[in-house]
Order: sequence, then C-alpha cells, then structure tokens
Amino acid sequence: MYSIAIDGPAGAGKSTIAKALSKKLGFVYIDTGAMYRAVALFFLEKGIKESDDERIDKLLDDLDISIKYADGEQRVFLNGTDVSDKLRQEEIGKLASKFSAVKSVREKLVALQRKLAERENVVMDGRDIGTVVLPDADLKIYLSASSGVRARRRYLELIEKGFDKSTLNEGEIEAEIIKRDEADMNREISPLKQADDAYYLDTSDMTLKEVVSKILAMVKEER
Ligand code: DC
Repeated sequence: MYSIAIDGPAGAGKSTIAKALSKKLGFVYIDTGAMYRAVALFFLEKGIKESDDERIDKLLDDLDISIKYADGEQRVFLNGTDVSDKLRQEEIGKLASKFSAVKSVREKLVALQRKLAERENVVMDGRDIGTVVLPDADLKIYLSASSGVRARRRYLELIEKGFDKSTLNEGEIEAEIIKRDEADMNREISPLKQADDAYYLDTSDMTLKEVVSKILAMVKEER
C-alpha cells in the first residue's frame, strides 16, 4: 500500500489539495479533521464539554464513526447517520480542536485511521498524520501558508458558499485561525508539527494547480 500524509495548520488548503491528488492518483482520500468534527458534534448534541474526561471516556464506547464514499466524496457517519453536511461550520471546527486534545478521543480516531490506511492507497490529511498516525507513510508533506493568506482563502470560500459579505470580517477570521493554530500546536498529545522526514511546502504564493503538480512530481520520484 502507498500512503501520502499531509499535515498543516487550519486553512492551508490541505483538503482541497489532498482531494485533487487522490483523484489524480486513484487513491482514497481520508479527511481526518472531519472525524474530529464528527466527535465534536456528537458531544455538542449531548451537551458535554471537552473538560468532562470521565463522561467522554464512557460515551466513546457508544460512538461509532464510519466512512463511506459517494461519487468520490468522503461521507462521515455518526452512529449510522450521515452528518457530513453539518461538519463544515466554523463553530464545529473550533470545538473539534478542543475535543481533539482529549487522549481517549485521539486513541479511538487514530486506530480507525490506521485501519483505513491498511487496506488501500491513501492520501490522508490532518495534524498528526506524518508524526503519529502513519509514521511510515511513503510521502509526507507539511503544508503551510501565512495566516493572512489562509484567512483570505477562508473568507473567499465562505463567500462562495453563500455567506453575506457584511457578516464576515477577514481580520476576525485571521484571529480565529491563529488561535486554532496555537491550540493545535501546543496541546500535550500529538501536537501539530512537521515530521522530521516531511517536505515543507509554503503555498502562500502558489496556485492549487502548482501545489498539486509539485506533489505529483514528488510521488513520481518516490515511487
Ligand atoms: O482540519 P480541520 O479544520 O477539519 O480539523 C478540525 C480540528 O480537528 C483541528 O483544529 C484539530 C483537530 N485535528 C486533529 O487534532 N488531528 C487531526 N489529524 C485532524 C484534525
């Protein structure tokens, strides 16, 4: 099996790039952030806070996350219900970052992610893929971009999704991004960091096409 690990901070373009790459290579794309988001949704609906370790540990036994694919798109199922469309909200992203710092949550999801990568060629993106989930990945990329560029991309993405411009503030989006980076990089367990053997790619001045071509060239070289 061949695996590509893509890590990096929020809004670096990981999922867009990983999706495009997996399509080109005929690999399965695994969006691990969506799994943490599904966990956050599960606890949000139960009214449980990320600090309530004991209840989280207990309830995790009742939590079943599974992944299916429809038209090449990953769909995330929470106890049998497709929750994919609920996961992209900013609030859920923020909450996912909080729950992702809980040890038992990480243990459960890392095991699931490893199992998925055993069976197929994958492009997997997240925060700890190259460092923890797939330390032996065939190719590791650490994708980044300045916080200003990431905020701009997020802003444009939200407008494209139909958000009203007057409700969006680019400065606030950037502040949120910086806050989330700090939380993800400074948590105790599996913080976001570049693996020693990962290639660092700053995409601030690159188009999606350029990034994908660059990574495809690396795959060709490595395979
Ligand atoms: O990539 P994303 O925005 O969908 O991820 C949401 C949060 O989940 C992110 O802020 C941190 C957490 N996460 C993680 O800790 N490890 C991963 N492999 C993926 C996401």
